[in-house]
Amino acid sequence: MASNVPIIIKSFFFILILLNIKSFPLAYHIRTVPLILETFKNRNNNNEDRDLFQATESTYSVLFDDLDTNRHMNNSSYNKVLDHARGHFFAASFANYMWNHKVVIMQKSVLMIFNHEIPPFSNYSVYTRILTWDQKWLILTRRIIYR
Ligand SMILES: *[C@@H]1O[C@H](CO)[C@@H](O)[C@H](O)[C@H]1NC(C)=O
Ligand SMILES: *[C@@H]1O[C@H](CO)[C@@H](O)[C@H](O)[C@H]1NC(C)=O
Ligand SMILES: *[C@@H]1O[C@H](CO)[C@@H](O)[C@H](O)[C@H]1NC(C)=O
Repeated sequence: MASNVPIIIKSFFFILILLNIKSFPLAYHIRTVPLILETFKNRNNNNEDRDLFQATESTYSVLFDDLDTNRHMNNSSYNKVLDHARGHFFAASFANYMWNHKVVIMQKSVLMIFNHEIPPFSNYSVYTRILTWDQKWLILTRRIIYR
């Protein structure tokens, strides 16, 4: 930033960005980079003795830009987080298959049930596992538990 910009303006923008870090342009895409690296790292791991129904845990925190006017995690944040957790699940469990078959993951439908709110600044885990499948689709269940 130019040195003639007053410190108060600089601080204001710095705080604004910090508070909205997860909604900042490209933040979503940057957060997928570790998932791609994880897939690359696990590409030779054929997971043959892995339990197919084992859950993968992904951990997150409710930050300021996840909050809505009810002061809890906002409904539209869930899909974004679940998207990321699904990427983590595939990178942890199916990296080898995805790497060798150049798999593209599409989403067909989502059913979401809100049982409890997630309070501000709490940490929570998303557990992703396979429920069942048919010839084309995998059906996953996700469970969110906060501590
Ligand atoms: C809810 O979260 C989404 C995704 O993080 C964000 O784009 C949106 O502005 C938020 N909505 C409210 C009402 O806070
Ligand atoms: C979020 O979803 C729940 C459950 O459907 C609903 O009760 C609540 O009003 C929604 N909140 C917002 C801010 O849309
Ligand atoms: C959430 O996790 C972070 C990092 O592990 C920790 O520093 C923080 O105290 C935790 N917050 C709560 C509310 O448990």
